[in-house]
Amino acid sequence: MDVDIGNALASVASPGISRASLDRLDERVATAHERIAAGRAEGEHGYAALNLPERTDPDEIRAAVEPIAGPDGGEIDALVTIGIGGSALGAATIVDALDADVETVFLDNVDPEWVRDSLDALALDRTAINVVSRSGTTAETLANFLVVREAFESAGVDWTERTIVTTGEAGPLRDLAETHDLPALDVPDGVPGRYSALSAVGLVAAAAGGLDLESLLNGAAAEAETLTGSLYECPAYAYGATCHALAARGAQVNAFMPYAESLETTAEWFAQLWAESLGKDGLGQTPVRALGATDQHSQLQLYRAGPRNTQVTFVTPRERPAQPIPPTDVDDLAYLGGGSLEELLDAEFRATEASLAAAGRPTVRIELERVDAFELGGLLYGLEAACVMAGELAGVNTFEQPAVEWAKKATRGLLGGGDFEEARAVEAKTALR
Ligand code: PA5
Repeated sequence: MDVDIGNALASVASPGISRASLDRLDERVATAHERIAAGRAEGEHGYAALNLPERTDPDEIRAAVEPIAGPDGGEIDALVTIGIGGSALGAATIVDALDADVETVFLDNVDPEWVRDSLDALALDRTAINVVSRSGTTAETLANFLVVREAFESAGVDWTERTIVTTGEAGPLRDLAETHDLPALDVPDGVPGRYSALSAVGLVAAAAGGLDLESLLNGAAAEAETLTGSLYECPAYAYGATCHALAARGAQVNAFMPYAESLETTAEWFAQLWAESLGKDGLGQTPVRALGATDQHSQLQLYRAGPRNTQVTFVTPRERPAQPIPPTDVDDLAYLGGGSLEELLDAEFRATEASLAAAGRPTVRIELERVDAFELGGLLYGLEAACVMAGELAGVNTFEQPAVEWAKKATRGLLGGGDFEEARAVEAKTALR
């Protein structure tokens, strides 16, 4: 990926970063890079995720998927992926951005009507199940799995022949896989959920959909090669450091706005990565999911004329598939007819970027060659590295998520799944009402 921070500089935008501040920040980037490199070398928790391009074995993933889905998913029409947060969004991002050969249904939420409707729409005898949970204890994932199993049994389909599990070394999901002799892949050590897209967590669904795992990993590996000690040389660090500096100057919101429909889920993935990694100690930017050109007709008003608390991050591919617009004999539409949708979308992007710059609002542009497996691998890796850099500069623990864990324990405790002080705190609050 390429990153252009020109419109985040103080000469263009407010809040903006002066050249002198950027030079000072670059010294801190060099120190943070040394910390990141040492963490990677030691395989430390979190930093180990940046080693996934070389650690992940695509053959192992395909071999585990084949018995339940056939080669490249040829024996199924659909894959139900059951997981939540980091155990679902990476896979959803990859499958939604690239053209998977099988329909992939993600069951993350536990809204009963939605789960039931999702299952009712599937031919279960042509469907496989992909269950993902690092901890193996997440209530939403395990409950949905029990519901899906029962639906398969009711339809007379043997779910044990069609289920693959990805989980940590130990836990209820691992036990279940062993009891039923299900193919099981490991969530690699030291890789938190939201950094696991480039492991089996994100790639089982991609393999079942016949996607090119090697290109995804090669794109990520190429991005990993760019991690140097300077924001002037490394696009990922330029992005992470710029966000950090803008946040410190008042850009509390980061609106992530791809100009590609296929990257809409990437904005959701980014929102999780950014919020759960950096929202600590009273710090962090609030990520907002946006989509160009759609949100030009809504959110853009706020970003140009609302509070000066937002940076907009654009992601735009240089090449897009062609879709000509047919010529027309209506004079007022002559400027469109004979053109193409890709030219129109590019013009929309340039207009939005220029409109924000003209109003002195900070933006950052991330450019891809095109949306394909190689470029997507690079984008996911680059944004993860950017997030790790932003976390180092802010001095927060990027790889933990105590607030998320609090609510997970409270939920389990409230349902009788263990004795958790978090659940007792919820009950005490309810009793006061
Ligand atoms: O990034 C994270 O750590 C979280 O979003 C987890 O991925 C999410 O809570 C699901 O956890 P698990 O994989 O243990 O089911």
